[in-house]
Formats: sequence, C-alpha cells, structure tokens
Amino acid sequence: MDITRGFTQDERSRVGELYWEAFGAKLSHAFRDGGTGRAQVTAALVADRFLIARDGADVLGVCGFRTASGGAVHWSWRATRSRLGRPAAVRSLAVLAPLDRSDVPGVLVLDGLCVAAERRGAGTGSALLTAALDLAAARGDRAVQLSVVGTNPRAEALYRRRGFTVVGQGGTGPLAGLYGFHRYRTLQRPVGGRP
Ligand SMILES: CC(C)(COP(=O)(O)OP(=O)(O)OC[C@H]1O[C@@H](n2cnc3c(N)ncnc32)[C@H](O)[C@@H]1OP(=O)(O)O)[C@@H](O)C(=O)NCCC(=O)NCCS
Repeated sequence: MDITRGFTQDERSRVGELYWEAFGAKLSHAFRDGGTGRAQVTAALVADRFLIARDGADVLGVCGFRTASGGAVHWSWRATRSRLGRPAAVRSLAVLAPLDRSDVPGVLVLDGLCVAAERRGAGTGSALLTAALDLAAARGDRAVQLSVVGTNPRAEALYRRRGFTVVGQGGTGPLAGLYGFHRYRTLQRPVGGRP
C-alpha cells in the first residue's frame, strides 16, 4: 500500500464514490436524490485536500482534511448554483452548512476518512491516520482532530486505540432526523508520542 497527498482527475469519480458511500446518508437530504448528491460531492472534492491510499492503481481509502483555504469538499455558492440552479442550491447549502467543520489553529482537522467496504479491517484506515499525523508534523501542527457520530462506535474505537481522546461533543438537536445522528464527539491526538 502506498499513501500520497492528492488524487488525479481520473481518480475523482472513485474518490467521490467512496466518500458518498461512507457519508451519503448524512448528506442525502441536501439533494434531490442519491445520484445528484453523489455527482455534486464528486464535483466539489478538492484533490489537494486528500490523502489517498492505493494498492497499485486501486484507490483503497481516502482521508480528507481542512487547509487554511477550506474543507476537503468545497461547496462554493457559484459552482453549486450553476450545477443545480438557484432554488436547489440554496436548499443544498443550507442543509450542508451545519455539517461544516471549523478550523482550529495549529491542528490538522480531518474531513472524511473512509475505506472501500471490501477492504476494511486490513489496516488501511490506521495507515491513513498515521499519514495524517505525518502530514500534521510536516505542517508544524501540534495535533490531529476528527469528529465521529454517535452511531459509529467502531470507528470511535479505532480512533481511541490510535491514541485519540475526546476533546468536545455536540448534537444535532431537532435536526437529528435530517442528518441521521443525534450526537457527535470530537477527538484529538497530539503529534508525536504514543502509540
Ligand atoms: C472507519 C474506517 C475508515 C476504518 O478503516 P479500516 O481500514 O477498516 O481500519 P483498520 O483496518 O485500520 O482498523 C480496523 C478497525 O476499524 C474499525 N472499523 C472496521 N470496519 C468498520 C466499519 N464498517 N465502520 C466503522 N468502523 C469500522 C473497527 O474499529 C476496526 O477494528 P475491529 O475490527 O477490531 O472492530 C472504515 O471502516 C470505514 O471507511 N468505515 C465507514 C466510514 C466511516 O465510518 N468513516 C469514519 C467516519 S468518522
């Protein structure tokens, strides 16, 4: 397995497929249907804000992250409006806005870690977390941060095993039905140190 930063335009649809498969349930109400949602997410991915794990030419998993310029999926008003039209774009961006993560100075904020369903449990997710820690160290950050929804205890268990601890939590309140989860936790791991 090989992990590098960025994906090629030829890989965009594969990265979008993985991202939508993992996070489509959370994003789906922003779009008319799943096909539209997947196409919009795929178009909005920012290649340089992803770590990509490959086996040869196969993309096994991806890990999005925020930079000072924004998130791994960039929802620009102009591009969304031109793709969907004004009313659907207003609706989409209103539903997506509360899911946006904010920047934390000196911290690499992850924005979508996912591994192809048939390749899970073989260490790819852990390797992507290690690559994220390496990237954070190279950027001079002091920690890596991610959020995990309350309905995903297996992913949270992985993060805890990899040295992440809870630094915050939040909820979706009355919008839980819209996003498919009630609670989320924010976890961090310092760069360097264990394990
Ligand atoms: C979470 C995920 C990225 C881990 O990648 P991975 O390559 O399977 O991870 P590893 O092989 O390094 O580690 C395995 C651990 O990952 C977690 N895991 C495995 N399959 C999982 C799944 N379907 N969903 C959530 N976590 C899973 C478990 O903690 C597992 O350990 P266990 O088998 O002892 O329970 C991957 O399973 C995935 O893409 N899941 C769906 C999307 C998701 O939940 N992303 C995280 C959002 S915060």
